[in-house]
Amino acid sequence: MASISIIGLGNMAKVLGDRAVAGGNTVEFVGRDTDKASTLARTVGGGSTAVSMDAAPSGDIVILAVPWQNAVPVVQQYGTALDGKIIIDISNTFDLSDYGGRHVAAETSVAQEIAEVTGDSTEVFKAFNTIFGAVLSRNEQLDALFAGNEGPAKDVVTSFIESLGLRAVYAGPLVMARVLEETGLLVMGLGRWGEKNYDFSLAVRRGTDV
Ligand SMILES: NC(=O)c1ccc[n+]([C@@H]2O[C@H](COP(=O)([O-])OP(=O)(O)OC[C@H]3O[C@@H](n4cnc5c(N)ncnc54)[C@H](OP(=O)(O)O)[C@@H]3O)[C@@H](O)[C@H]2O)c1
Repeated sequence: MASISIIGLGNMAKVLGDRAVAGGNTVEFVGRDTDKASTLARTVGGGSTAVSMDAAPSGDIVILAVPWQNAVPVVQQYGTALDGKIIIDISNTFDLSDYGGRHVAAETSVAQEIAEVTGDSTEVFKAFNTIFGAVLSRNEQLDALFAGNEGPAKDVVTSFIESLGLRAVYAGPLVMARVLEETGLLVMGLGRWGEKNYDFSLAVRRGTDV
């Protein structure tokens, strides 16, 4: 099991915190409102703790559960304090007013932009952005698509995702984060036009399943 810092105190922080605690991980909530962070830690329970943004995140895995615009600035704010850690970016960047593409250049992604401002010893992954928070909150086993470079950190992320009761589905190296961000837009379109609800998740069917 892993030690996790979750930066952000909103819907996804709560849902991921709940599943992380249930999976036996140590969880720390990091937020700019310390009272809100403490309340969230108490609500999630399981020994989870709360710290302000002034303190460096203590977890080996740092989940960025903030809006995409603030992901890079938050990482930059910590400077070298995130060296050696695994960062998981869960953000989606699209504008739902026109379903027009992402707010970062087509050839990159928020996760890749984060990697550009972190030290060589920090490993960045994209995960959880293709699953609706409300669906994730139901504690069902879902497929969790993730991207990030091969190596020991990928094994750590895989184990962490599995500890949440999810199936870790590897989409490839960090360059594939941009595709996962587009996939976030896909699930919104499916919800709006195809399924006409947001109570579903993407699944990868393997040979034995079909
Ligand atoms: N909701 C979903 O179904 C879903 C699914 C997949 C991915 N995502 C992605 O997950 C991320 C979080 O979504 P959410 O639904 O949890 O949003 P949310 O409920 O609005 O929560 C966002 C949190 O980010 C915090 N925050 C914003 N800027 C910050 C900063 N500069 N420093 C520290 N904290 C900051 C906010 O802090 P305050 O509490 O102080 O305002 C808030 O707690 C987004 O990138 C979203 O695209 C969401």
